Amino acid sequence: MAGPDLAGMSDRRERAWLVRFIVDPQAVIDSGDRTARALVQTYQGMVMPAIPDMTPERATALVDYVRQQEGSGGSAKTAEGKPAALEPFTPEVVERGRALFSGLAPFDAGGTACIACHDTGDLPGLGGGALGPSLTHVFKRLGGRKGLETWLASPPTPAMASLYRRRPLTEREIAALIAYFEDRAGGEGKSAARGGFLLLGSGVTALLLFGFHLLWRERFHGVRARLVRQYRTRGVQ
Ligand code: HEC
Repeated sequence: MAGPDLAGMSDRRERAWLVRFIVDPQAVIDSGDRTARALVQTYQGMVMPAIPDMTPERATALVDYVRQQEGSGGSAKTAEGKPAALEPFTPEVVERGRALFSGLAPFDAGGTACIACHDTGDLPGLGGGALGPSLTHVFKRLGGRKGLETWLASPPTPAMASLYRRRPLTEREIAALIAYFEDRAGGEGKSAARGGFLLLGSGVTALLLFGFHLLWRERFHGVRARLVRQYRTRGVQ
């Protein structure tokens, strides 16, 4: 479900375009092709990876195959559009996902914990970072299990790609993170996280000010007392 349904693709697109795209998706996008760019936008920046050893001949054969499947009534559609199922997610897997997300458990390849830049609305304390988008509803947004699996295996966006290309997440880590996101999708994000941060900030500021006040309580007395003394001694003279 990460990519578009291929049923009817030969009706939607020119054959030559399909072949070019299958051989090198990124090149077609880079060429400024309108259709390809619209696809990237529809699929939230996700780009189909180049398939190793793909040739125009093989691409042509694939296009013909899909077309033939449609003709023979065999449908290329997935049953009811449901995401292909991974293993069922147990509460333990969800918990592992939460631990990985929040940095309580390290990633095998040493990648940065997601909490540095993302919030999910159920993190204790101050919540996650705000550099990246909130991931509370990412499960639905990026196409459920299948979509997220593809997305996280090779993140297509600039920041995410540069972070995890060299330190990729393992399949097991991705599954745990998806389990966690799926679990979050059921729950409601508490938007209090940002408010909590403000509140804590104001509280700490107030405490600091009060501390300074205590520390330098004598600051006026010290100066004034000396002035008064000087005045008196002068007055006596
Ligand atoms: C250093 C900051 C940073 C870290 C760490 C980080 N991300 Fe991101 N993430 C971003 C930014 C910024 C974006 C926005 C797209 C971009 O520029 O890459 C993003 C986008 C995403 C998206 C797409 C969201 C959407 O709605 O399209 C997902 C999913 C995601 N990150 C998952 C993760 C996961 C899972 C981790 C931990 C393994 C993680 N990120 C760690 C910064 C980060």
